[in-house]
Amino acid sequence: MDSLSQLRNEISRYLTDSEARRHDPVGPIDELVRDTGLLEVNGAWVVSSHRLVSALSADRRLSVDARLGGSEPRFAQPRTLDHVFGLMLNVRDGVDHRRLRGLVSGVFTARRIAELTESAATLVESALDHESLDIVADLGVRLPMRMNSELVGVPAEDRAQVLRWVKALAGQLDRFGQTETEVSQAERTLAEFADYIHALLAKRRLDPRDDIMTRLVQALAQHMLSTDELVAFVITLFVNGLDTLSAALGNVLWTILGQPGLLPKLTNREDARVAFDEAVRLCSPIRLSARTALSDVEVDGQTIPAGSVVLFYWAAANRDPEFTDAPAEFRMDRGALGSYAFGQGPHQCLGAQLARLTGAELISRLATRFPESTVDTTTGEVRWQGELVFCSPEQLQVKLVPRGAMAVA
Ligand code: HEM
Repeated sequence: MDSLSQLRNEISRYLTDSEARRHDPVGPIDELVRDTGLLEVNGAWVVSSHRLVSALSADRRLSVDARLGGSEPRFAQPRTLDHVFGLMLNVRDGVDHRRLRGLVSGVFTARRIAELTESAATLVESALDHESLDIVADLGVRLPMRMNSELVGVPAEDRAQVLRWVKALAGQLDRFGQTETEVSQAERTLAEFADYIHALLAKRRLDPRDDIMTRLVQALAQHMLSTDELVAFVITLFVNGLDTLSAALGNVLWTILGQPGLLPKLTNREDARVAFDEAVRLCSPIRLSARTALSDVEVDGQTIPAGSVVLFYWAAANRDPEFTDAPAEFRMDRGALGSYAFGQGPHQCLGAQLARLTGAELISRLATRFPESTVDTTTGEVRWQGELVFCSPEQLQVKLVPRGAMAVA
């Protein structure tokens, strides 16, 4: 077997076998970028090099709408679930995508994000008042829920219910083969969440605030989006902001605590932000994102046929030696390198600044109060999620240890 066929087998196994991902969060990506930037694997085209990811992520022939690939519809009859999911910002192309994204980009301003990180800081401080902390399943849920709720305008007393709806709907996004009972349950959840969003909308009409809900109410009045698009928008922000951030916090803390002597040096917010960026580059929380080829696409002498699934392997491009030197090493001195961890092109993450500032806040406060913290493995080694898209520990229990406590013990 030639080396490319062998690599194809290894990548295929890694992308299809959740057990392989549970045991190895990174997988054979260093070999992938060393040997090829574009590889056809089981009919999908894996784009992994810095050069090709950068070029193709801006290519309009690659659509975010998976339905355009001509695949079988998920359900035999049209369902509200698919209708609303199909209106979400991250699965819209071109003009519609720009129209929707433009409605809220002003909310993600530096001033608003600074206010939100103050709120994140309060939550982090109270979470640090314990002996140990689960970064993924506890803080990693409470922190993004608090910030997204403040951004959108969901009052504190409603957040537990909104979290239940968001978790139930996130679990439905790409699922095939549900039973009739499961689909009906998901449709009921969607209807309840939509009713709630409409009630909030009515409140904001009477009492405008500096939040996303108010912006969307104004946009609706000017016919800049439909009511279903509005509901889909709110769901997009919650669904995209929750699991991504909990995965990232777990991933980043695991990486930082794995670098001997690093945490105590990160008390300053700016250093903490540099460490966050380097950690998400080295071990990216969102491994890859999918596109559909709308027409044949010629790349470096190969043809991606129309209708193919194309995977932008962000985690691999981040570790391409043509992107940065010694890419498999954690380094604090890479300067303003940027990374593919938040995607690239028109769909680049809307919440990236918010996520980076939140992560930096957690790291710098942990470094200041508990610089000798360690990953707590008393109940077993860290287990990784088997998810394809998310790369994250299932849980990450951190033992909060102040300076000098290890020596005393
Ligand atoms: C560290 C945490 C996060 C990571 C690693 C991350 C990663 C990503 C990536 C890779 C994409 C591009 C997907 C694609 O090209 O198909 C994306 C898009 C997106 N992200 Fe994030 N994200 C994070 C946090 C957040 C947060 C906190 C929010 C909400 C406040 C958010 C909202 C979004 C939205 C709405 C999109 C779609 C943008 C569009 O299609 O125009 N993300 N994110």
